[in-house]
Amino acid sequence: MEKNMMNIEEEGKRHLTLTVNGAHVESDIEPRMTLAEFLREELELTGTKVGCNRGECGACTVLLDRNPVYSCTMLAVDAAGKEVLTIEGLAEGEKLHPLQETFVEHDALQCGYCTPGMILSAKGLLDRNPRPTEDDVRNAIDGNLCRCGSYPNIIEATIAASEKRAQKERVK
Ligand code: FES
Ligand code: FES
Repeated sequence: MEKNMMNIEEEGKRHLTLTVNGAHVESDIEPRMTLAEFLREELELTGTKVGCNRGECGACTVLLDRNPVYSCTMLAVDAAGKEVLTIEGLAEGEKLHPLQETFVEHDALQCGYCTPGMILSAKGLLDRNPRPTEDDVRNAIDGNLCRCGSYPNIIEATIAASEKRAQKERVK
């Protein structure tokens, strides 16, 4: 009896293949699992935060094929075959991503709970618009709430990261 139940549970699972932070990932998961749950519980990538768990706060933002998405309102199975980038995938070894550096330099976090989602929304913006205006940044992060009210510093940090990147490109 116990064995039959196990088989039924196993049959209910779906095989998922995707890329996470550049690595090929395969897993058998329940179809109801959200992408946020998959990242945090199956892959132990707990840098992706869950705030509201209903698509309102943006804490769970990750990039899916380079576009910001709320991972709490998306099923993991819908990410099949796609590329996911989480906050853990930004730094190269010990070297922080320019956005991570400028968030620190510009004091763009207090409790830090919104920070991974903010940084990924900002990265999504800089990838499609390398020299954004302040209004562009405001629009890009309008789905990310910061309860600590760090918005001015977050905007400054994002503009500073775009300048850093432009300087690096001039040096090349
Ligand atoms: S936790 Fe996903 S939007 Fe709030
Ligand atoms: S730094 Fe605390 S919620 Fe944004």
